Amino acid sequence: MEIKITKTTTPKAKPDVSKVAFGTEFTDHMFMMDYTPEKGWHDARIVPFGNISLHPATTALHYGAEIFEGLKAYRTPEGKVQMFRPIENARRMNSSADRMCLPAIDENDMLQILETFVKVEKDWVPSAPATSLYLRPFMFGCDEHLGVHTVHHSVFMLIASPVGSYYKEGINPVKIMIEDQDVRAVKGGTGYTKCGGNYAASTRAGERAAQKGYSQVLWLDGVERKYIEEVGAMNVMFKIGGTVVTPMLSGSILPGITRKSCIDVLKKAGIPVEERLLSVDELVEAMENGTLEEAFGCGTAAVVSPIGELCYKDKKYTVNGGKIGPVTQQLYDTLTGIQWGTVEDTFGWVYPVD
Ligand code: PLP
Ligand code: COI
Repeated sequence: MEIKITKTTTPKAKPDVSKVAFGTEFTDHMFMMDYTPEKGWHDARIVPFGNISLHPATTALHYGAEIFEGLKAYRTPEGKVQMFRPIENARRMNSSADRMCLPAIDENDMLQILETFVKVEKDWVPSAPATSLYLRPFMFGCDEHLGVHTVHHSVFMLIASPVGSYYKEGINPVKIMIEDQDVRAVKGGTGYTKCGGNYAASTRAGERAAQKGYSQVLWLDGVERKYIEEVGAMNVMFKIGGTVVTPMLSGSILPGITRKSCIDVLKKAGIPVEERLLSVDELVEAMENGTLEEAFGCGTAAVVSPIGELCYKDKKYTVNGGKIGPVTQQLYDTLTGIQWGTVEDTFGWVYPVD
């Protein structure tokens, strides 16, 4: 694939990443390409970051034909830049595209786009501890008429934002509210995809939780509101009686790349891990009888994020005295060590860029 590069003539000053809120600063460039049934993906280009112009009838604006991904580029102590499992993001993007009738992107093309873009923006990859360059690929349908139909014209873009912690708490435990009214997804729907609509529909519950002092909500299944699913922007794991339990992939939760990586790290460390149905009743019982030892969320933006308090039906439960537990800490250290290049990557996950 040929990527045309037009560099900005007015590069911005780099911000102090430790002071900026997640996803509020953007780099100097963005990647774009267009899709038509006649030409396929074409006109791949890196251009100066800026606003885009859309027809008011653009499909994505009316019927939500939009999907995205999230991954990071990390600066190693030697000053090199690397990504973490980008092929997994390329695959998941295509799985989301398939569900939303958007066009697939060849996985190797996607890797080339990511790599070329990160090379152009490599000075934007921050080096302060726990900071990285968050990469946001996204695609949307842009047919210019109002009929409800399969998308024919699409745009794919990639933008990037230098980031520190996703939560203001950093690695300190977050407070999560178990949501028992709204639901996020049902089997057969779009829960396993990263489509914008999943997030739009989840903000009401998130807002209610925020007003009560909680960072995010923990979703229950959409049919019985009985089984634990995932948190707003991360998958969840609970250490109950020595075993790490995480909801199995059932079609309604996002198949997280961090989740998958945590499972592999745990297995390699000899820590028992189960992917299975976990009911909220079982979780409440474990909180009440003291067998819930640790709880944490995991995701690209959130990394590994300890949960210090859970609230269900107005009852509050403190997890591990509100402190990060040893397994959560071990996972955080191993995963972030591999990502930032301070722990040997025995899994083959790291993708060097420069
Ligand atoms: N679940 C949801 C709803 C998410 O938005 C994310 C973030 O991408 C995750 C889970 C974690 O996925 P990953 O580890 O691939 O970033
Ligand atoms: C991610 O972790 O990449 C996410 O997509 C979470 C969120 C910012 C939507």
